[in-house]
Parts: sequence; structure tokens; C-alpha cells
Amino acid sequence: MNILLIGSGGREHALAWKLAQSRLLAGGGDRLYAAPGNPGIADHAECIVLDVADHEAVVQLCAEKRIGLVVIGPEAPLVDGLGDSLRAAGVAVFGPDRAAAQLEGSKGFTKDLCERAGIPTASYVRTRSLDEALTALDRFEAPFVLKADGLAAGKGVVIAETRADAEAGLSDMFSGQFGSAGAEVVIEEFMRGEEVSVFALTDGTAILPIGTAQDHKRVGDGDVGPNTGGMGAYSPAPVLSEELQNQAMREILAPTVQTLREEGMPYSGVLYAGLMLTDQGPKLVEYNARFGDPECQVLMMRLDEDLGELLLACAEGRLEEYPEARMQAQTALTVVMAADGYPGTPRKGGLIDLREAEAQGAKVFHAGTARDADGQLVASGGRVLNVTASGANVREAQAAAYAAVDAIDFPSGFCRRDIGWREAVRERGG
Ligand code: AMP
Ligand code: GLY
Repeated sequence: MNILLIGSGGREHALAWKLAQSRLLAGGGDRLYAAPGNPGIADHAECIVLDVADHEAVVQLCAEKRIGLVVIGPEAPLVDGLGDSLRAAGVAVFGPDRAAAQLEGSKGFTKDLCERAGIPTASYVRTRSLDEALTALDRFEAPFVLKADGLAAGKGVVIAETRADAEAGLSDMFSGQFGSAGAEVVIEEFMRGEEVSVFALTDGTAILPIGTAQDHKRVGDGDVGPNTGGMGAYSPAPVLSEELQNQAMREILAPTVQTLREEGMPYSGVLYAGLMLTDQGPKLVEYNARFGDPECQVLMMRLDEDLGELLLACAEGRLEEYPEARMQAQTALTVVMAADGYPGTPRKGGLIDLREAEAQGAKVFHAGTARDADGQLVASGGRVLNVTASGANVREAQAAAYAAVDAIDFPSGFCRRDIGWREAVRERGG
């Protein structure tokens, strides 16, 4: 069958790499297409130019190329209803429709759902004006957690240490800093604990856990500096014991899927739950309606299933056919190499040479890369490469990933040198 993958980041390169190994693509005429793709994805797929906001154009392309499955990588097309448009045209889609994608698209929607379903999460208030928000602040203590309701490219959350900072933050949010995403602001209780991510596939009824991960959001070593989309990740996350994982499935993910189904918004795709491991057990921080980036890269390294068949089963409501998603016991770890300037304005055009690293067998997923006029690989975005390796534990995977990083020639790039530190300390018994 022919498959179309939407997206252009490291997440999509990992998906393309894994999809390319699928039996669905094993026939002579079977093709994997990617829109728009990137130079790494181009090793596995035919990259095509397509405006994914133009749903009619995507539907037409699916007819032309006889696409049997569309895999939507990023959140924006999901929240924009690309899944609905494709399903209406009879195309199988991996990814939720617009209503269910509100789990990521609206913080307020998710908090209300948690309340209706009794899902453990921080207490909260939804506010629609600065006045309302300032009054609501009285009900909370520092640190104050302020969230723009809509999609804000990962920048919509402010943790304010003082009341004055919270008031300033609210004022910025309501003055249009995040456009329509900030028309409503959720204020919530601050939760203490360690954060961990859980991923599960669902077709709206069956739920299949597909791994755990931890990431590093801050730009600098030791988890300091501004937030980023993620500077590295590893899977599994041993801090989430099997017992805690079962508890999270039972108390958080299962009631989410059930409530959405019962309320006529069945969720089909991957559920990415950000959890806080608090003294009172796991609580939901947020949901995303897609795979994490770079968490997807480490999940795909460990997945011992045919990804194409798994995602198609999800799209066709046949996930119950899978008793489990088998994952390798090995740890996978990825280090993000970013362009100088990130997470501010990244320096574009810097030359990248991966030949030595790849000759050594390193798995380097491309995120923000491009080819220049001479066909040379150059940086074209903030996060540029995801250097990924496996090992018996975090320390081994870390050593292998950094050996590969050291073999990469990317003078205008940088990376954190401590991805996995928290777990590496625990492995040393510290
Ligand atoms: P979110 O976009 O909702 O994941 O928020 C971004 C980050 O802010 C999370 O990964 C947490 O580190 C932090 N955060 C969000 N909500 C809370 C909360 N209620 N308590 C503590 N930290 C939070
Ligand atoms: N790495 C965090 C995210 O994908 O949202």
C-alpha cells in the first residue's frame, strides 16, 4: 500500500525510518511519501511539496497517489481537522480528529474532561479576562502556573515565582502575546515531583502502551536556561515502575479514552501523557495528541513491531488484535544538536558533515536540515539533528550517543552534554 507521512522534523524522520521497514511497503509498487519531509526522510520516502492547511489538496493527492494510510506527525494539522477531512473522504488516518485533538489544542478542554472523569491532575480555574484571572490568583499559592489555553508552540506556560510575576505574566497573555491561543488562560495548582511521559496508541476503544520516556526541556546542562522543544530524551524511564505505569493507565489514560468515546469524540491515534509523579501518585500535567519530539525517536528505536501495520490497525479500529506492543528492553537515548542561537533565533546555513558518524553506525535523525545549492547538508532550523543510540542502560546508551556526537562535524551547532543525567546518577546508586 502507499503511505503518506505529514511532517518534517526528527519525529517524522524516525517514523519514516520505521515505516520503511513495514510489510505494508514491501510490495514492488508500494511507496512511502512525505510532505514536506526533510533530507533525512528523503532516504526513505519521496518528499512532496504540499500545503497541509489545504485539506482539499491533501485529499486530492491521496486519490492521485492511491494512499492507503496517512500518518499525521505534528499537532497543528490535527487541531486544524485534517484527520476529519481525510476520514470524510474515506482515507485511513493515524491521528485524532479535531474534536479529540482538543486534548492538546485546549488546556481548558482537558482540565474540564479530567474533572468530569475524575482523573488526577492539578486543581485549576479557567479565566477569560485579566480581571477574572487576577481575582482567581487569590485561590492559589506561589509558584503560580499560568497556561495560555490554545497551541503556543510549547511556549504558552509560565511558572511565576511571585504574585507580581504572575500578574505581569497574565497581563502579557491577555494582551495578545499568544494571539488567539491566549484569549483564555488556565491558572492551576503547582505540582511537585518528577516528570515522566507515557505513550499509548488507541483506536478509541482499545489502548496499547507504547513506552515511557523522560526528556530535558531546558537548553543548558544541569537543566538551566530557557525552555526548548526538548534537548534530548531516553526510553524507558525506569522512574515509572510497572506498578506506577499501570496506575497511570488505569486512573488517567483509560478514563480519558472512555470518556471521549462516551461523549461522542472518540480518540484515534497516539496519546502522549505528561505526568507528574507526586506524593499522591501520578497526576496529569498535560496531553499531547501526537508523538513527542524527540521522544518518538527513542520509542521507534525500541519498538519491536511493524509500525505500519500497528498504525493502520489503529486507524481501522482493530487495535484489539494486539495483546501488546513489544519493545526492546534496551535503553535508547537521543541527543539533540541545535543551531547556535536556539531557542532564540537559530543560525541557519551552517554546514553539517555526518559521514564519519554514519560510517561508525550512528543513527542520526534529521530535524531542521536542508540541502544547499551545492547539495551540501546545512542547518535550516533550531533543532537540527537527533543523535540516537541504544545500550544496556542509560549510561551505555549515553556513551554511545556522545561518541557519535563527537564524530559529527557541525561547527555552528551545540548540544547538551548531560542528557540522561538524572537516570545515570540513579544507575550509579547516587
Ligand atoms: P505543559 O505545556 O502543560 O506541559 O507545561 C510545560 C511544563 O510546565 C511542564 O512540562 C511542566 O514542567 C511545567 N508544568 C505545567 N503544569 C504544571 C503544574 N501544574 N505544576 C508544576 N509544573 C507544571
Ligand atoms: N518534547 C516535547 C514535546 O514533543 O512536546
